[in-house]
Amino acid sequence: MHQTTLTITHKTLLSPAWWQINLESPKLAEQLAPGQFLLVQCTDPFTAYLRRPVFPMLIGSDQLALLLRPSSDAGLAWLLTRQVGDTLNVIGPLGQGFPKPTEEQHVCLISDSPALEPLLGQMQIALHNGSVVTMALQASRASRLYPISILPIAVELHVATLDGSMGQRGRLTPLLPDLLHWADVVYATGTMSFLHQLNQQATEIRLGHHTQFLYGLWPQQLFGCGLGACLSCVLPTKHGLKRACADGPVFDLGSVMTMSL
Ligand code: FES
Repeated sequence: MHQTTLTITHKTLLSPAWWQINLESPKLAEQLAPGQFLLVQCTDPFTAYLRRPVFPMLIGSDQLALLLRPSSDAGLAWLLTRQVGDTLNVIGPLGQGFPKPTEEQHVCLISDSPALEPLLGQMQIALHNGSVVTMALQASRASRLYPISILPIAVELHVATLDGSMGQRGRLTPLLPDLLHWADVVYATGTMSFLHQLNQQATEIRLGHHTQFLYGLWPQQLFGCGLGACLSCVLPTKHGLKRACADGPVFDLGSVMTMSL
């Protein structure tokens, strides 16, 4: 972990609600695993010293990309206004990311959140390893979804929107048993209730024993300092109390006490 200043090299509109900004940093690109995060200083009049956790993905061997959407959070809204040539002060990489997918597995990537960067990073590694990849996404409406048209065609996609504006109307719930039966390993991001639902399904399907099967990214909205100091993110696991920001944010959900999900 170190503090550094990164320059924005590209800013691209991916779809009406999605921007990608690229940051050049060969050193961070070499160190970062999907699911690890950076604390970015987002300087705005209201939150001058509060850093925001962001989850970059790797682009090639020397670039990081941040996916940004319009946000009600003042810091993230400030970040979205940055332009090519601007600099960002960041600390990282922080936390423990997703384990690397091993070769030729059935990999399921699943989320009810638009914050997909860690799963896109896992997707790149899994495809490179020769794995078969399925991605299942849930959102309130089509405009809240990551622009799925730019995903690789090798990825089998399942989409559910609550208003039926894309894919199946409703939630992913009816698909979960089939997806979890098919998968060798599942990587998930999203809300706490979604992780809880996944964990319940995995417990039923794997008869209570599902360690090293379902990995979830702890929601970073629950982070205070993000540096392991304030203890606001502590959760009970079968291996004792853990800090989500420092010991996670990725956890094997089979080892997290169900009361904390
Ligand atoms: S957010 Fe402060 S210890 Fe985790």
